[in-house]
Amino acid sequence: MMTLAGNKWRQGCPRIREILALEASPGSVTVAGWVRTVRQGKGVAFLAVNDGSCLASLQVVVDAAAPVGAVLPRIGTGSCVAISGCLVVSPGAEQRWELQAAKVVVFGPVDEGYPLQKKRHGLEFLREIAHLRPRTNLFGAVFRVRSRLAFAVHRFFQERGFLLVHTPIITANDCEGAGEMFRVTTLDPFHPPAENGQVAWREDFFGEKAGLTVSGQLEGELFAMAFTDIYTFGPTFRAENSNTSRHAAEFWMIEPEMAFADLAADCALAEEFFRALIHCALEECSEELAFFEQFVAPGLVARLASVAQASFAHMTYGEAIERLQGSGRAFTFPVAWGCDLQSEHERFLSEQIVNGPLFVTDYPAELKAFYMRLNDDGRTVAAMDLLVPRVGEIIGGSQREERLEVLERRMRACGIAPEGLAWYLDTRRWGSCPHAGFGLGFERFLMYVTGMENIRDVIPFPRTPGNARF
Ligand code: 4AD
Ligand code: MG
Repeated sequence: MMTLAGNKWRQGCPRIREILALEASPGSVTVAGWVRTVRQGKGVAFLAVNDGSCLASLQVVVDAAAPVGAVLPRIGTGSCVAISGCLVVSPGAEQRWELQAAKVVVFGPVDEGYPLQKKRHGLEFLREIAHLRPRTNLFGAVFRVRSRLAFAVHRFFQERGFLLVHTPIITANDCEGAGEMFRVTTLDPFHPPAENGQVAWREDFFGEKAGLTVSGQLEGELFAMAFTDIYTFGPTFRAENSNTSRHAAEFWMIEPEMAFADLAADCALAEEFFRALIHCALEECSEELAFFEQFVAPGLVARLASVAQASFAHMTYGEAIERLQGSGRAFTFPVAWGCDLQSEHERFLSEQIVNGPLFVTDYPAELKAFYMRLNDDGRTVAAMDLLVPRVGEIIGGSQREERLEVLERRMRACGIAPEGLAWYLDTRRWGSCPHAGFGLGFERFLMYVTGMENIRDVIPFPRTPGNARF
């Protein structure tokens, strides 16, 4: 093991997670991290040192009377230290190992202004200090789960032969047709070039009106019609001014797209994917889930374990409307065929009626985007939403309209000029094929898995109306 001598001290320096898993002491070790707490004992100080590799901290014992004890006045909650010493079996019941400090280097001291003193802090306060909240147990757990699951997303698709496509972030198309794009422009906001009383976007950087993507789907479809199975996993932006606990202006979406697939295959993939991610959380993040179970959402682990087993319920939109109407429940938004399902309806369906994940399929065409395949009844489309308890809609997807004439008709009905998406329509003109895909909101999934109730607490630096700090 390295000592603290020289500037290459990190070489061979183990992470605390590795140390805590050791079967036998290697003798001397060096660790580095941030002090969570300092506790005074008889002639010694106990430091809890955490390096983010796991929930647990390493107990470091500093002998106040020994030369190393001289450093103690400079160490408090939050300070950054590196410690060399002997790893010994701890006499305390709470931990297996402890480190007897022989040498301590203080990289970063703290003063009494450090906001993360040892006590429980409210989530709203922690959002205000998003630059420091990763150093708490709760956010340490959230962001370790986020990292693991992001990797599991790639593993799931790569193992099944899906091609990863990096779809563009700046784009001129509004995939969802909902007009919620953030504008990207280099025009002078005070004196934009004008043409017939309007902004002359053709003089802008991209030669047309451009913005941040609301979905990588349209480009994903182009790739599916060359690589068969593809996925994209990237940042997504929506300028909807809905200040809810489930909406972010910047979020991450996973969007697979499969050629030669219909709506049933789409639902099957979504279910398999959803379950695989839950398995990963149960198996690879058990320490974090146990923490959420204790402090955030009692019953979480059993709920996830049962979802990992059960098969998901299916219901058409028409059936869902009937079940809601027949429930006798007075909703804030009245229910009738043709109405959009509100979050109260989505939650009632998944929480009260099926008590688990539920696919709702075949929505009225007017409620859904132009690209969804028109069903034979001429009034519904081959859409699917996956609804889950607590969170509501977590996945949205569909079979795509592969018939050129039907697609053009639908675009016109939605007020979208087919000429503007000529490249998209070309795939229907040349070598079109049945295909389907969906989008999973990564943060909504993390809310579901961790039990966290606000989307702002599962993304490192949330962007919401009025908030782009950090
Ligand atoms: O239902 P949406 O709008 O579907 C699409 O964008 C399709 N193009 C996907 C596809 O078929 N390839 O969004 C998909 C999911 C939602 O179910 C939700 O989980 C998440 O993205 N989502 C948001 N998450 C956080 N904040 C927002 N503002 C979100 N809007 C959508
Ligand atoms: Mg949707």
